[in-house]
Amino acid sequence: MPERDATPSEDVSPQASGGAAVDAAGGEAPAVDGAADDAAAPDAADGEPAVAHKNRHVRLIVTIVALVVVFLLVLPVFSTLQPAYYDRYPSLRGRMAAWRQSTHALVPCSGCHVDPGVGGFLTFAARSIPAFYSQLFFGPQTTNLLQVPDRKACQKCHTSYRQVSAGGDLLIPHRAHVEVLKINCAVCHKNLVHSLNAQGFNKPEMSTCMNTCHNGVTATNQCNKCHTQKAMPANHLQKNWLQIHPTMTKTIDCGQCHAWAPDYCRQCHLKRPPTHVGNWKTGHAAVAKAEGTKGCLFCHGEAFCKNCH
Ligand code: HEC
Ligand code: HEC
Ligand code: HEC
Ligand code: HEC
Ligand code: HEC
Ligand code: HEC
Ligand code: HEC
Ligand code: HEC
Repeated sequence: MPERDATPSEDVSPQASGGAAVDAAGGEAPAVDGAADDAAAPDAADGEPAVAHKNRHVRLIVTIVALVVVFLLVLPVFSTLQPAYYDRYPSLRGRMAAWRQSTHALVPCSGCHVDPGVGGFLTFAARSIPAFYSQLFFGPQTTNLLQVPDRKACQKCHTSYRQVSAGGDLLIPHRAHVEVLKINCAVCHKNLVHSLNAQGFNKPEMSTCMNTCHNGVTATNQCNKCHTQKAMPANHLQKNWLQIHPTMTKTIDCGQCHAWAPDYCRQCHLKRPPTHVGNWKTGHAAVAKAEGTKGCLFCHGEAFCKNCH
């Protein structure tokens, strides 16, 4: 028994490779000696036809293995390119629903999440294969298969740089932001497909501009640098606006325009108001008696008054 075991296993590899080499070179007989000696091979006595038969087997097996490998590689890439594939991820449900409602509902996931060109496709393929199989074994889970799109993906379709918003009110020099400042489209257009902004639109929000860069230090926060048509409302232009604006707060929603900077009102209230003139330390008594002290507390904490009272 041990002898029989050893012989074929020694034989098989040289014979298999020898056979293949011979075959490729178009030769015939030389491989026979190995096969003919082999008592374990049932076809040994048939000589030449047995080799051809065997070679055909090898070729068949190689072809099948190759096809299986190709299938195993193509299947995940093909599957992960289908939007419906992502329905199996519970964690993506919200994103999928929003995408189906968005202006880009007809753009498949690959439109934005696969970079253009062969390189982009291969990078995606390299990620999709492990992601697909790990998902088969460990069940649906969010993987890093799809990443925040690069601007190259958006620019497959959007080839020009806008200066002004479609509505005409906003100056938005795209070239400066995208090419000079190298800000990715998805930074500003983060609500484009998978979510809505606070107002319920897919548009960029003013708060993104303000919180990211336009804070008055890194970049301007002056309204008319971005808005061409949004001037100060008429009531603001009255001479005594600073005196009357407090009462307006009761009827007008100031936050509609001012809430982008939570400190907008406070910043100004930290400054001494025009009422505080002369010897205000004692002068405030008269004003406080005439107008009440409720307004004072808009800028002052009660503790402040209690310092002296
Ligand atoms: C028109 C472009 C576009 C299409 C089409 C699109 N997405 Fe997105 N996707 C984005 C943008 C922009 C972001 C980044 C903002 C965000 O997180 O929502 C993103 C983010 C994601 C993320 C999070 C990536 C991360 O690393 O944070 C996932 C997951 C995702 N998309 C899945 C999908 C799926 C699934 C589809 C197809 C059903 C799809 N997307 C179609 C633009 C797109
Ligand atoms: C496969 C092509 C394609 C890709 C990729 C694509 N878009 Fe679009 N996009 C369109 C089409 C088509 C429209 C609709 C145009 C229209 O209605 O005028 C559109 C509309 C838009 C709009 C205006 C509509 C709205 O919802 O306000 C914005 C903004 C936009 N795309 C940004 C992007 C960004 C950012 C990316 C990359 C994350 C991107 N697009 C990727 C084709 C594409
Ligand atoms: C600095 C922020 C910012 C960046 C970066 C940016 N955008 Fe925009 N984009 C905006 C704003 C703001 C608007 C105007 C939205 C509106 O009309 O209210 C806009 C409008 C658009 C529109 C027109 C929308 C419409 O209603 O017609 C398209 C298309 C668009 N952007 C595509 C892109 C693409 C593609 C990129 C990347 C190459 C990009 N944007 C990068 C801020 C940005
Ligand atoms: C850095 C640019 C930028 C600055 C500075 C800026 N905004 Fe905006 N603003 C935007 C963007 C972007 C939007 C969202 C676009 C949209 O909704 O069409 C917006 C939206 C708005 C809206 C709501 C949308 C509408 O049309 O009703 C109001 C109101 C507004 N801004 C007022 C102001 C006021 C007041 C200031 C100054 C105190 C200001 N903005 C400063 C960029 C800016
Ligand atoms: C339609 C948008 C809008 C609304 C609503 C609004 N404001 Fe304003 N407000 C502005 C703009 C624009 C400016 C100019 C700010 C700038 O240039 O930085 C401004 C400036 C101000 C200033 C400073 C004025 C100055 O002389 O420096 C005060 C105070 C003010 N607003 C108070 C209020 C109060 C209080 C309310 C609510 C009753 C309110 N605003 C509602 C748009 C608005
Ligand atoms: C340009 C500076 C400035 C800005 C900006 C400003 N305020 Fe004022 N605010 C004042 C001054 C000055 C007073 C005192 C007015 C007076 O009594 O003469 C005041 C007082 C007030 C008072 C009550 C004080 C009283 O005596 O009754 C309220 C309420 C108020 N502001 C609301 C707001 C709100 C809300 C905002 C933001 C939307 C705002 N203010 C922005 C300067 C400002
Ligand atoms: C718009 C905001 C604002 C309002 C409204 C306001 N104050 Fe002031 N007040 C200030 C600021 C800012 C100071 C300076 C605080 C400091 O120096 O620490 C100040 C200082 C004072 C002082 C200290 C005296 C001084 O001269 O430094 C007194 C007292 C005072 N306020 C009383 C009042 C009274 C009473 C009212 C209501 C009738 C009032 N304030 C309304 C902002 C305001
Ligand atoms: C720096 C100390 C000081 C602070 C802080 C201060 N007060 Fe006074 N306050 C006085 C003095 C002193 C008088 C008395 C003036 C007089 O008799 O002529 C006075 C008088 C008053 C009076 C009149 C009292 C009466 O019966 O005649 C009122 C009302 C008043 N203060 C309200 C306030 C309020 C509200 C605050 C906080 C916003 C405040 N004060 C903060 C020193 C202060």
